[in-house]
Amino acid sequence: MDLAELEAAINKVRGLAKEQMQQLEDDLRQAKLESVGELRRRLDEWRVSHLGKKSQLQQVSRQMSDLSKEERPKLGSLVNQTKAELEAQHDRLEERLSALFRQQQFASETLDITLPGRRHPLGSVHPITRIIGEIEDVFLGMGYEIVEGTEIETDEYNFEKLNLPKDHPARDMQDTFYITEELLLRTQTSAMQVRTMERMKGKVPVRVIAPGRVYRRDEDDATHSHAFNQIEGLVVDEGIRMSDLKGTLELFARAIFGPDQEVRRLPSFFPFTEPSAEVDVRCTVCGGAGCRVCKETGWIEILGAGMVHPNVLEFAGYDSKKVSGFAFGLGPERVAMLKYGIEDIRLLYQNDLRLLSQFAR
Ligand code: PHE
Repeated sequence: MDLAELEAAINKVRGLAKEQMQQLEDDLRQAKLESVGELRRRLDEWRVSHLGKKSQLQQVSRQMSDLSKEERPKLGSLVNQTKAELEAQHDRLEERLSALFRQQQFASETLDITLPGRRHPLGSVHPITRIIGEIEDVFLGMGYEIVEGTEIETDEYNFEKLNLPKDHPARDMQDTFYITEELLLRTQTSAMQVRTMERMKGKVPVRVIAPGRVYRRDEDDATHSHAFNQIEGLVVDEGIRMSDLKGTLELFARAIFGPDQEVRRLPSFFPFTEPSAEVDVRCTVCGGAGCRVCKETGWIEILGAGMVHPNVLEFAGYDSKKVSGFAFGLGPERVAMLKYGIEDIRLLYQNDLRLLSQFAR
């Protein structure tokens, strides 16, 4: 091909490229943000076909060797000029597309900070768990250790070693779920008294509380449940006296109910303590006037207690002439009912959210 033909070829390519570029620019003007990617892909194709190694422009310039010495620079400068022109067009569009692309990215990453957040419903600590925790804190503060036993116990630990032989009439106080002759669902956390003392192997001081669930074949009513919690307390040391028990329980009652709560102590009976006592608290549900929660008495029993019976100390390997102790067993459900004004113990087990959500704070 001679110079004129080659120049014509270049101008044709140039025209075509320009036309296509125009099309791209027109499309860009109407483009939605989503089509930026598509336009970029087309621009890339345009660059490969008009500026790439296999482009026509490249092919034409390869034929430069056919031309004479004078003609070559003429074609050369036309090729260069065309290349520069097309590159400039390419870069201009590329830049616009990049700007649009960034804009698109910003748009998709924008946070609407005025949108209200999603609320995750918060649970709450169950009132029984909460009151047990509060009671534990009081005794931890007095240097007690927390121990835990199992809900399935042996007759030996639940009764016999607590001074309750098989035919003892006081066993009727606690109607028992037996699993076998020897195994039962513990009726009282008092089983942990003996287990703790045996573990301590005659050493003093012993100062523990043992929270846990216990079971009795009771009819469920407003103040009774066949499964409920107890917190056992046991202190053994030299020279422990009834006044230590009294002081401890007074401190407990004041810490949990406040200084103004009326409390009374009555003599009582338990085979494993001597003497024994019970502690009653003024019924907060009726203020003492009498209601179904306090069985019209104006008082609610929250714990049984007493000085550890010498037999129990001896059964557990302690010398009852050298050491003495006190024990108590308190009912966290009763405490929770009084403290929070809950009128029926069954409400504590039904897990109705209307009750539980009141403990969310
Ligand atoms: N275990 C007794 C009960 O369940 C309570 C108690 C514990 C009494 C410790 C005295 C000492 O009724």
